[in-house]
Amino acid sequence: MPHEIQQDSWKQLAGEAAAKLIEDGMVIGLGSGSTAVYLIYALARRIQAGLSIVGAVPTSKATGELANNLGIPLTDLDTHPELDLDIDGADEIDSQLGLIKGGGGALLREKIVASAAQSFIVIADITKQVRQLGLKTPLPVETIPFAATPVRKRLEALGAIVQLRQLAGQLYLTDNNNVILDCTFPGGITDPPDLENRIKRIVGVVETGLFLNMARQAIIGGPEGVKVLP
Ligand code: A5P
Repeated sequence: MPHEIQQDSWKQLAGEAAAKLIEDGMVIGLGSGSTAVYLIYALARRIQAGLSIVGAVPTSKATGELANNLGIPLTDLDTHPELDLDIDGADEIDSQLGLIKGGGGALLREKIVASAAQSFIVIADITKQVRQLGLKTPLPVETIPFAATPVRKRLEALGAIVQLRQLAGQLYLTDNNNVILDCTFPGGITDPPDLENRIKRIVGVVETGLFLNMARQAIIGGPEGVKVLP
């Protein structure tokens, strides 16, 4: 089987397993990305079969549109500032359940929604598990466009090779009209909490794609089925 098809079936396993954790009466956060799409379809099927949730807060415009089209009731953080459960994908997951997110550009809303949830569960295929963050995936840093150049210089001073994200030859703008600076750290990220603190102190940075001490559990799909961490 081609690798992408296999990887996709592992994402599906994780998304569908996570959908089973959603209970009647819950207010939930709905993640973004290709793994979250499987969760969203599985949730829609459960709602058609009689599950009754209070509402779902989408972490991106794309997730909101898909969920709405599939008949999932949507809500927002003004109506429900506290969520029972948030389920979302990741680009990398380390052994402490530290994450890099934002490959799809939705990191800011994803982090806000995760931090509003009593429980945040990450879903992924097994290829996302890493021994050290930042070796395979650049760290996305969402930045105010006005500050992009000075922020870039400050990130370079922290040792990053910085790429201003483009999509189809155009400047990529997030759902919040910000830019993303993708930061590669040669040798990976050796001290994630320290790096997070240093980046968050740069004026003009809105948020980073490091999600540390946030995920309570990981549901990982792979060739042997689904495993739950820890
Ligand atoms: C979106 O901005 C990201 O944080 C996604 O959650 C992450 O990129 C995972 O995406 P996939 O499930 O498509 O791999």
